Amino acid sequence: MEITEIRLGDLDTKKFIAEKVEKISSSVGQGLAINALSGGVDSAVVTILGHRALGDRLKTCFVENGLMREGEPEFIVSLFQGMGVHVDLIDAKDTFLNALKGRVDPEEKREAITQSFYRDIFGDLVRTSGAKHLLQGTNYTDIEETVAGIKRQHNILEQLGIDPEALYGYRVIEPLIQLRKSSIRQLAEALGLPEVIFNRPPFPGPALAARIIGEVTQARIDAVRRATKIVEDELSDSGAFQYLAILHEDRVVGMKEGKREFGLQIEVRCWESKDARIGSPTRLSYDVLDRLADRMTTEVPGVVSVTYNITKKPPSTIEAV
Ligand code: XMP
Repeated sequence: MEITEIRLGDLDTKKFIAEKVEKISSSVGQGLAINALSGGVDSAVVTILGHRALGDRLKTCFVENGLMREGEPEFIVSLFQGMGVHVDLIDAKDTFLNALKGRVDPEEKREAITQSFYRDIFGDLVRTSGAKHLLQGTNYTDIEETVAGIKRQHNILEQLGIDPEALYGYRVIEPLIQLRKSSIRQLAEALGLPEVIFNRPPFPGPALAARIIGEVTQARIDAVRRATKIVEDELSDSGAFQYLAILHEDRVVGMKEGKREFGLQIEVRCWESKDARIGSPTRLSYDVLDRLADRMTTEVPGVVSVTYNITKKPPSTIEAV
C-alpha cells in the first residue's frame, strides 16, 4: 500500500486542517462538489473540512438507505443544520432494498451496496448537480482491510483498481486516507464538532446490512434496528470502542407465553479496540448481559435466543458481514 499512515502522536491537527482545506479547494477549483454525511465521525470531519474549503459549493447529502439506526437521518440532518450546514436528505430506501434482494453472500451484499451508493445514487446526484468531485471519509484501516482481502469496505474504489471518473463520472477526494479513527476523533474535536459526534462509536458504511446474516429484508432490518437500539441504550456508558447486535440466519426453537416459537437469534458484540484493527470482547457484567437478554426477548418480536460473542479479532471481525 503506497499511502503512508500519519500516526496519532505525529498529527499536528492545525497544520493538517489547513493543508486539507487548501488541497480540497485547489482540487475542486471553481466547480461544485458533493459529499455524503452518514453521521459517523469520518464523514462529519470531511463535511466540515469541505465546507471550510468550498462553502456553498459543497452539497452535503444524507443518503437514507433504509439501513440506518432508529431516528438517525433526522437526528444528523438537524444537528448539522444547527451548525449552519445544510444537508439534503436523499430517500434511497428502495434502491438499496432492491439491490440487496435475494443476496446472501457477504461480499455480494457489500458489492450491491457499493454500486447503489456510487453508481446509482451519486452517479445521479452528480449528473443532476453538475458536481465533478465526491468528498468522502475513507480512512487508513478501511483500505488496509480491503487490500488484505479481508472485507471489501464499501468506500474503497481506487485501491481496487476502480477508476470512479471513468465508471461513475466524478473524481473522489479522500482527505482522511492517512489517518486511523483515534486521529480522526482528535480532528473532529479540533474542528469544533460536538462530543456526540467526536466520541461516537463507529458505524459501518453498509449500515445494518453488515449486521444481518443472510438476506436483508424489511422485516429483518426492523428486527436488527430494534436490537441495535437496545444494545446502544444499555452499553453506551460501557466505555467500549463499539457495540452492536447481529441477526442470525438460523432459527432456533424457543417458547413464548407457553407456546413453541421457532424464533430469531440475536448475537451481541461489544469491542475493546483502539482503531478496529484488532479487538477483544469487553468483559461485561452478567447483570448487563441478563438485561440485554430480557430486553431483546421482550422488545424485539420473534427473538428467543441471545448470545454474546467471546471471540477476539482476529479471527473474528467487528461486524458479521
Ligand atoms: P470489521 O468488521 O472489518 O470492521 O472488523 C472494522 C471497522 O470498520 C467498520 N466497517 C466499515 N466501515 N465501510 C465503513 O466505512 C464498510 O464497508 C465497513 N465495514 C466495516 C466496522 O464497523 C469497524 O468499526
